[in-house]
Amino acid sequence: MFTVICCLLAGEAGVSGRFLTVASVFVINGHLSPGLTLPLFMRCSGTSSIMANLRIYVTLLVLQAVQFEACHALWCNCSTPQCLQEGSRCETDGACVASSSLLDGQEQRVRSCLAKEKLVPPGQPFFCLSAEGLMHIHCCYTDYCNSMDLKVSTAPVPAKDRTLQDLIYDLSTSGSGSGLPLFVQRTVARTIVLQEIIGKGRFGEVWRGRWRGGDVAVKIFSSREERSWFREAEIYQTIMLRHENILGFIAADNKDNGTWTQLWLVSDYHEHGSLFDYLNRYSVTTEGMIKLALSAASGLAHLHMEILGTQGKPGIAHRDLKSKNILVKKNCTCAIADLGLAVRHDSASDTIDIAPNQRVGTKRYMAPEVLDETINMRHFDSFKCADIYALGLVYWEIARRCNNGGTILEDYQLPYFDLVPSDPSIEEMRKVVCDQKLRPNIPNWWQSYEALRVMGKIMRECWYSNGAARLTALRIKKTLSQLSIQEDIKV
Ligand SMILES: Nc1ncnc2c1ncn2[C@@H]1O[C@H](COP(=O)(O)OP(=O)(O)OP(=O)(O)O)[C@@H](O)[C@H]1O
Ligand SMILES: [Mg+2]
Repeated sequence: MFTVICCLLAGEAGVSGRFLTVASVFVINGHLSPGLTLPLFMRCSGTSSIMANLRIYVTLLVLQAVQFEACHALWCNCSTPQCLQEGSRCETDGACVASSSLLDGQEQRVRSCLAKEKLVPPGQPFFCLSAEGLMHIHCCYTDYCNSMDLKVSTAPVPAKDRTLQDLIYDLSTSGSGSGLPLFVQRTVARTIVLQEIIGKGRFGEVWRGRWRGGDVAVKIFSSREERSWFREAEIYQTIMLRHENILGFIAADNKDNGTWTQLWLVSDYHEHGSLFDYLNRYSVTTEGMIKLALSAASGLAHLHMEILGTQGKPGIAHRDLKSKNILVKKNCTCAIADLGLAVRHDSASDTIDIAPNQRVGTKRYMAPEVLDETINMRHFDSFKCADIYALGLVYWEIARRCNNGGTILEDYQLPYFDLVPSDPSIEEMRKVVCDQKLRPNIPNWWQSYEALRVMGKIMRECWYSNGAARLTALRIKKTLSQLSIQEDIKV
């Protein structure tokens, strides 16, 4: 709480009256803070006037005190090792937290501070959500309010005989249409047993985990990458995003052990790994090529599409499309993954949901207008056109591995492998793509095989320097659907 110390200073005012200066100091949790200083000028010297002025002053002082109460830093009880030297307390601009968790049969109680920036999403911050049967968390907002001892509730966890897919289907269709409720996400995440590491990317590691007899993929972000974790979880939970060609999101969870926070993103597991892994390992038949290309276009068309209405979805641009960010499912179709850099369009106000930075994504796959910074970032469609350019590069990677067009079979290569070094700089890419206007080579012999001819034509129309002239994902999807009917392919 706070104490107020006031003092009065009286003096002569020039023309016809007197002045009285009232000053105050707040003492808040041992810290001195200057309060209100007000000269009360009195033309007449009657006591009623002094009292009236003092009343105004006291009112202002109370208002200021209320304001101080509202914005001063909060003190909380703290049981983490770092707080021991600080008198087992911590100071925060956010909330006090008390948690009790049941991990491996042991009950662990932690009291700590939670910074304001972690109170996201507003109203139901991830960090303040309990997971039934596993963790009970209480966030509160007054000094030392986290002194209580919580018990882990033993409410039932999701029924044992339901599969994850059943659960996601039931709960997401009855709820917001965007996935599991947050407390279920946490329950699922905390009962996953990690098995083996399957990959490493810019933001952390990807593991295969087991949940009730099934495989799941767990992307683990370091606490430094909290923003990326949050953004990716946020995008995956966009209403109505779920689609067979977009990686199925299961859960986001943040485990705070008092010393560091481990951030998890749980999704469907695909044993073939990424399209990059798949094409390195296998060649594809014409049918295989069309299935991969058509399913990738379907996923991208769904991502790009705005669906109007209460059960609608905003248009989303991926901004980091590449063969490493597309997974190959058991049925050899694609699932687009890694939505951490995506942007969403609010068509009502024609705005983009985050301030888009100029050049994100992977340099090798950047469209010419991204490389030379001429992209119009106020226009959402520009981002979709940049995705289409990258899709064309992915198609080139797939088509090179097609073995039905004849005996000529090319090895796997990244786009521009023959024109830039590995890990090229923006400048190296810009010279090739913008100045020399070069694109990956489309061999002449592709013209002799209908499927490869169509693929080559699509690629060229994805690679125009003018983004607006490129095909749309929906157009590509239609062209490839026709091709699949023509080639008698069941998709
Ligand atoms: N859901 C999944 N199922 C199976 N394997 C996966 C899954 N998600 C990721 N992987 C594997 O883990 C690897 C690492 O993925 P991650 O997205 O972290 O990095 P990346 O895409 O390789 O690189 P970048 O950081 O540039 O995106 C992938 O290349 C893929 O092989
Ligand atoms: Mg990736």
